[in-house]
Amino acid sequence: MSTTVIILAAGKGTRMRSTLPKVLQPLAGRPLLGHVIETAKKIHAENIITIYGHGGDRVQSAFADQDIKWVEQAEQLGTGHAVQMTLPVLPQDGISLILSGDVPCISQNTLQKLLDASSQTGIGLVTLTVDDATGYGRIVRENGQIQAIVEHKDATEQQRQIKEFNTGIYCVSNAKLHEWLPKLSNNNAQGEYYLTDIVAMALADGLTVASVEPEQAFEVEGVNDRIQLAALERQFQANLAKKLMQQGVHLIDPSRFDLRGNLVVGQDVRIDINVIIEGECEFGDYVEIGAGCIIKNTKIAAGTKVQPYSIFDQAIVGEDAQIGPFARLRPGAKLAAEVHIGNFVEVKNSTVGVGSKANHFTYLGDAEVGCGSNIGAGTITCNYDGANKFKTIIGDHAFIGSNSALVAPVTIGNGATVGAGSTITRDVEENSLAVERSKQFTKENYQRPQKIKK
Ligand code: UD1
Ligand code: CA
Repeated sequence: MSTTVIILAAGKGTRMRSTLPKVLQPLAGRPLLGHVIETAKKIHAENIITIYGHGGDRVQSAFADQDIKWVEQAEQLGTGHAVQMTLPVLPQDGISLILSGDVPCISQNTLQKLLDASSQTGIGLVTLTVDDATGYGRIVRENGQIQAIVEHKDATEQQRQIKEFNTGIYCVSNAKLHEWLPKLSNNNAQGEYYLTDIVAMALADGLTVASVEPEQAFEVEGVNDRIQLAALERQFQANLAKKLMQQGVHLIDPSRFDLRGNLVVGQDVRIDINVIIEGECEFGDYVEIGAGCIIKNTKIAAGTKVQPYSIFDQAIVGEDAQIGPFARLRPGAKLAAEVHIGNFVEVKNSTVGVGSKANHFTYLGDAEVGCGSNIGAGTITCNYDGANKFKTIIGDHAFIGSNSALVAPVTIGNGATVGAGSTITRDVEENSLAVERSKQFTKENYQRPQKIKK
């Protein structure tokens, strides 16, 4: 049976107090709505229909690369009214999952359970039982069967004691949606078209309403303000951290770990506190990440140790390398095995060969460094003339003395040596020494200027 996912995302989100539409607020680095869309894809939904209202242009352009049908709800007249807007594009057969753009953590498993339960009955919902369900629509049951959903504002004092509530996640046959939605009325305490009224219509048609509970309570938590957003972020992160630990990652403190994307890990990876991992990252066996590192779209091969406060963006690091502390690897940094990149060393769009070292205060930009070379403290590849970028090529087993400026385009041959403090503008031949300094000025018995005492 073909599955459509309908996502309600027309709400204003006033309580976020933000110019950004609520469904674009980030959770784990991705818009709330993006999480729901990703889950819809995991269950192989044939159609994804998103109902937008406020900030519609921004919401649509944020997902311009995705195959989504957009339906406008210009006025927010209720959840039932929102789903009515989809009828012109909703298939006549198949089944629909109805989700909320601001309930981002609903899992594939829970939705699968809901689909299975509802395929028998034609209608089902996700409910949850809590101590205090104030504000939510309550599930009224008789002999265990769902009889109605009563909104908090419409509920009697007795109904308000009910602990089982409607999470706002439904599964309904499309044929029934086409039949029922045009019949909704707004004759209730809030003057809204309630989607929940379809439950009464199902019962009138002689159907039973199926229900399932989420695997984890936080899956059905909605985001209305920044306090809820921050709380959900921590729950989401705790869940990710738990999954990584189950895979054998040693997280020194899972409450001080943030993953905003995906991390693929080998065995015995160790991650110290306050590390942020973004985008798509991969760490091989025995990789160790020191405290405070920020690592984005980067691959780090087995055995490499990263010392604290190092920053990576689109870098590739080979096996048994040593990086940091305070290293910065920028896009296109490609380090081979056993490379050492030390403190305050920046590497951009450069390859560094096996076993080469740049341990202190260096900039390698648009450079190719061979194997076994030593780049002395304070070496700068001068790759930019204000308009153009040029390459610096350093061969194998070269030695660049401290505080040298290599003015690109320039090549330092295999085995060549550059004397400390040189500004190198011409190529250096293999195995030769190049020194370029102004002559040392010397004065014997030199007297430094003296402070005059007042
Ligand atoms: C709804 C349910 C309630 C349930 C609760 C769970 C109804 C009548 N009630 O409450 O039983 O316990 O969700 O959170 O459905 N939206 C639109 N257009 C509208 C109105 C809402 O797109 O005109 C969207 C909102 O952006 C949000 C979702 O629908 O994503 C739910 O709306 P919200 O106002 O939070 O739910 P309630 O109606 O209070
Ligand atoms: Ca609400």
